[in-house]
Amino acid sequence: MKEFVQVSESVTWTGVIDQDMKKFHGEELSIPNGTSYNSYLVKDEKTVLIDTVIHKMGYDWVTKLKKEIDLNEIDYIIMNHSEPDHSGALLELMREIPETPIVCTEKGVEILKKYYGKNWKFHPVKTGDKINIGSKDLIFVEMKMLHWPDSMLTYLTEENILFSNDAFGQHYANYGLFNDMADQDQLHYECMKYYACILTPFGGILKNKLEEVLSLDLKIDMICPSHGVIWRDNPLQIVQKYLKWCNNYIESQVTIVYDTMWESTRKMAESIAEGITDVRQDIKVKLYNSAKNSENDIATEIFRSEGFLLGSSTINNGILPSMAALTESIKGLKFKDKKVGAFGSYGWNGRSLDILNRVLDETGLERITDGVKIMWNLDDEDTEKCREFGRDFAKSLFVELL
Ligand code: FEO
Repeated sequence: MKEFVQVSESVTWTGVIDQDMKKFHGEELSIPNGTSYNSYLVKDEKTVLIDTVIHKMGYDWVTKLKKEIDLNEIDYIIMNHSEPDHSGALLELMREIPETPIVCTEKGVEILKKYYGKNWKFHPVKTGDKINIGSKDLIFVEMKMLHWPDSMLTYLTEENILFSNDAFGQHYANYGLFNDMADQDQLHYECMKYYACILTPFGGILKNKLEEVLSLDLKIDMICPSHGVIWRDNPLQIVQKYLKWCNNYIESQVTIVYDTMWESTRKMAESIAEGITDVRQDIKVKLYNSAKNSENDIATEIFRSEGFLLGSSTINNGILPSMAALTESIKGLKFKDKKVGAFGSYGWNGRSLDILNRVLDETGLERITDGVKIMWNLDDEDTEKCREFGRDFAKSLFVELL
């Protein structure tokens, strides 16, 4: 376990780094770079613990925390969010200090009671409430639905530290702990993936909340999220990124995703990609086989794309299972302002195209084509048909250039 790290005069990082964690939310989210569960101890006249860690590390974590501090000296435990990756070690901790008040939102009280079945001493708070800890205050801001109904931020005055829980976090096991000690490319990608796969459905709420928080004119010298790096070097850079991402962010990119039985749908995808680059050579065109790539990495590429295309062979009057799973993700993530289309190969029943068109229509995105389907395998004429489909799709994306 990484040693605890003092991050400011009164704040110590008391978290756990978990580089072995490769799947999150059960098996839902791939996190190849691991993660951390960041907990913080704030010492002033009063002592406050902000968030705990995941259950599986609870015993080791509490044992280590006891070496850092007499647990009976903890005056409050603040739970910014009740999801088990942050609250899981509460059971272990509360066995030691069952009378310590737990500060959280009303919704947090409800969720923690349901998860752990304990009648701990809850101290519910709402936006604007504060707790004086001596020379400083802790101020609370509710972050309802970012990303759970109980989520909140805690702000430490005087040292100007924002404990943001999941917001501004990323699944990234960085032993250096601070953002300036991380691989910047990996860090940027993991931040975007975290946003794309977790926060995209709440973009509108996030935009309003960020504006509300910024209007408070709080000085922010450090952002301490509950996963990944502590933002101490230019901490507002991640806030600026979030402001861009929640504002219908796109890059000049088209993502083509397919699954294929006997390579025909793959060949279609490649010919479509050729067609797109015929029209625009400076656009990024990325191809992914949905059966061979992480659904979450694909979702991240879709998030940053101006348009995307889905392709599947027809099987049993339907689409291939990996594509079916991906379309569930795409629907749930509620992407906005992207142009879309579909394609697929078939033998005797071309229903995959109809299904993909229907699914795309359910997303509310602008489907700019009825798609293309090819029987059995591609001959030269079929290849040109796909290429032309790609050119047309590219022209629809960049109408201003015509
Ligand atoms: Fe990291 Fe929503 O828990």
